This record gives sequence, C-alpha cells and structure tokens, in this order.
Amino acid sequence: MERISHRDRDENIYEALCNEPGRPKTYHIVTMGCQMNVRDSETMAGTLEKAGMVYEGERNKADLILYNTCAVRENAENKALGNVIWLKELKAVRPELFIAVTGCMMQEEGMAERVLKSYPFIDLAFGTHNQQELPGLLLRAIRGRRRVVEVWNEPDGIHEDMPVKRNSTFQHFVTVMYGCNNFCSYCVVPYVRGRERSRSQEDVLDEMKRLVDSGAKEITLLGQNVNSYGGGGDAFANLLRKADGLGVERIRFMTSHPKDMSDELIACFGELTHLCPQLHLPVQAGCDRVLSEMNRRYTKEKYMGLVEKLRTVCPDIGLTTDIIVGFPSETYEEFRETVELMKAVRYDAAFTFVYSPRPGTRAAGMPDPVSAQEKSRWIQELIAVQQEITQDICRQRIGEVDQVLVEGESARGSGYMGGKTPRGHMVNFPGNGDMIGRIVKVRIVDTGKNTLRGEYVGPADRAERNI
Ligand code: 5AD
Ligand code: SF4
Repeated sequence: MERISHRDRDENIYEALCNEPGRPKTYHIVTMGCQMNVRDSETMAGTLEKAGMVYEGERNKADLILYNTCAVRENAENKALGNVIWLKELKAVRPELFIAVTGCMMQEEGMAERVLKSYPFIDLAFGTHNQQELPGLLLRAIRGRRRVVEVWNEPDGIHEDMPVKRNSTFQHFVTVMYGCNNFCSYCVVPYVRGRERSRSQEDVLDEMKRLVDSGAKEITLLGQNVNSYGGGGDAFANLLRKADGLGVERIRFMTSHPKDMSDELIACFGELTHLCPQLHLPVQAGCDRVLSEMNRRYTKEKYMGLVEKLRTVCPDIGLTTDIIVGFPSETYEEFRETVELMKAVRYDAAFTFVYSPRPGTRAAGMPDPVSAQEKSRWIQELIAVQQEITQDICRQRIGEVDQVLVEGESARGSGYMGGKTPRGHMVNFPGNGDMIGRIVKVRIVDTGKNTLRGEYVGPADRAERNI
C-alpha cells in the first residue's frame, strides 16, 4: 500500500483553516472503543491544533465536539447515539457549535448518511479512512455553510508524518498495522477497518525512537491483529527485537491472534529485556465447535499449547483475554467448556461480552435461540469464576517488591498514586505527584477488588529486566 507522507503536504489547508473566520477556536474529542481509536484521536487532535485550535477539557464549552465512535457491539453504538442526541439541546442554545462524528460506526454501510438524516444538528460525518482529511472537511463545511459527509470504502494509503498531540508524555501507543483479514464470523472490524496493511519497520522504529528521545517510558504497539504485522511469519518478532534496542523501558503490544502466535514471537518473551511479561490473547470461546463457527482457526488444544509454551519461556507472564458469551447456537454445555478453559489458563483478567449481532457479518444470519436473560446468567457465572482467579493471583503477589510505572493519582484519591507492574497489575500506593512518569519500587501489602495495594520502597534502577 502506498506510503503517503504529510511532511510537506497540505500546509495550506492548515493555514486556510487557521485564517478562516468563524472557524471553531476550541475542540473536544470524545473517544469510544479501543486503543486504536485513542491513537487515531491523538492524530486528529494534532491536525486540529496545527490548524490553530485549542483543546477544551469541558466538552460543553468547546466550539467543536468530535465523536470518535466504536461499532464492535450494539451497545457501543447506542451509547454514541445517546450521547449525540443530547447535543441537540446544547446546539439549540449555542447554534455556532460544530458537531462532527467519525470512527468505525461511520464506516458501516449507509450509516453516515442515516446519522446525518436522523440528527440534523450534526455538521460533519466522516469515516476512519478519511480522518487525515479532517481539516479539509471542516473547511468545506464552514465555507460552504453546509453539512458534509465523506466516507471512503477503502483507505488511500498509509499516512505517515501526521501531526499528533499525545495524551501522555511517558506512555504511548504506536500503531504498527491497520485493518484485519480474519473475518471472525461475529466481527464487524474487517468491514469497517478494511484489509490488513502494515507500516514499514523503518517508520515504526523512527516513531518509537522519537518518543524515546522525548522521554517515553512505555510504548504499546497496536494493531487489530498486531502479530500478523508485515504479513505474518517472523516480521513482528523481528520488529520487536529491533524495538528492544531503542532504549525504551517497557514495550507491550496488542491485540494478538492465537493463530499468528509464532514460536519466534513466543521466544521474544524469554529473550528481550524490555518486553513486558504480559500478553492479551483473546480466546473468545473454549469449545472447538463454537471456535470453528466463529472462524477462529485454532482449537482449544492449540490455544492451550500456546499458553504452555509462553509459560515455559516466561513463567511469570500475565495473560488476559476476551470472551464472547452466547454466540449463536452455543449451548450451556459448550459455554461450560469456556469456564473450564478459563480455570485451566488462570488469566490475570478477562474481558467478557455477551454476543451482539452485527449487521453484515455471517453470525448475524445464524439462528440464535438462547434468550438474553439466559446469556446474562451465563456471563455472570463466568465473571464470578474470573473474579476468584484474579483475587487469588493478586493475593499471591503480597510481600513482593515490584516495579511500578506511576501513571497518576489513583482512584482512591489524593495522596495515592496508581501505576502498573510489568505484568500489568494496577498498584495503588501512598505517594505524591512528583512520582508521575517514573518507575518506582513498591512493596505489595494488600489487594483491592482488581488491584494491588502497596507501599513505596524507592526509585527503580534503570534497565532492570522487566520480569
Ligand atoms: N459481540 C460481542 N463481542 C464482540 N467482540 C467483537 N465482536 C463482537 C460481537 N459481535 C469482542 C471480541 C473482541 C473484542 C474486542 O470484542 O471478544 O476480541
Ligand atoms: Fe475481529 Fe477477528 Fe479481526 Fe479480531 S481477528 S478484529 S475479532 S475479525
């Protein structure tokens, strides 16, 4: 796919928008869904700032409100629409307010047009493949005094050197590949994000290097199917090996597909100094028949084999997963196989979802006789099992001294800081704001519901192995 550099491109668009009378002066972006969207919003914020706009923390005060939506489940869509409907009243009071929507939901067939029709107070709807055009689209809407919709079915290339406004100074996302080719039968992502396309190794390492030079402590490499980067094989493992030499303290990546978990990649967890001992490896279901209907292309046995290999090379690796409950035709006995798998793996955490039919996907056309109430009982059962495992794993950490990258004030309130261990456990401990962005040693003294509680021991030595 063509590489499109923005280094010298479109300068006049930014300038024109900057000088456009009546342009929004401040913006606020509401980001829903996954980390890919979070990273996309950082780029859109970068383009708006380059066009002279200033971030406004309070949504209702901003001149431009931009919604970056998610389409992965129906309730994510309902949430977005619920939010947007409410803006109608705000716009009645402030007619100059500019409202824009983008993200995966806009990329669904006919959705952007439908949204503009149903919500006449929305000024601009554009797809994920059009996000780099945001300043131009805004200019078109403002100059033409008309509503604009722009959704391409396909991306036009891989956009590099876009302006970006990072949410953090020390903890970053770097997207390495876009899209997905897997067509799991329940999933809308391949339809809204398009086919897989990878950035060049050079572009990824350049971006990482720049972040390291400006103080990055942790970088998470992102892709819908991150371990098929570069078309699969050993390309992702090779990228990780090079990234490990850049001097960033912590490297993570997500989301991995079990079918692309090569031995070469697994070996990285035993060899690389800065790769954190943590892996998100969605299993989705624990029954081979359901996995096959889901088009996941692995069996329970294959998945358990990966877990074993990972734990052989890296005994303290923390595994997390995604699970769908109530896939069409799944029986209670089949669901119980998922519970058994969960107990066998002993995940640190599991993200569990009741199946949600997505228009256009194969599973949406399958008979689905189990009631919503029944599925809700199943998921409660699953959550209770995971809760106990999580508690147990947390309790085992008591007494250990671990390294914590301090992210900010914890939810417990002032005087408490929160941050993660290399394995990904959130630890809250008494501390102060000066610690933010630093890696410190903390002794684990107790457990909360899904978190650990600790006490400060001292600063961490540089470049200690992450496990
Ligand atoms: N219904 C429920 N959960 C879904 N996911 C993806 N599509 C659906 C759907 N139609 C879940 C999967 C995926 C996570 C991001 O969202 O578990 O890994
Ligand atoms: Fe969806 Fe499957 Fe692709 Fe993940 S791998 S984004 S679940 S189609």
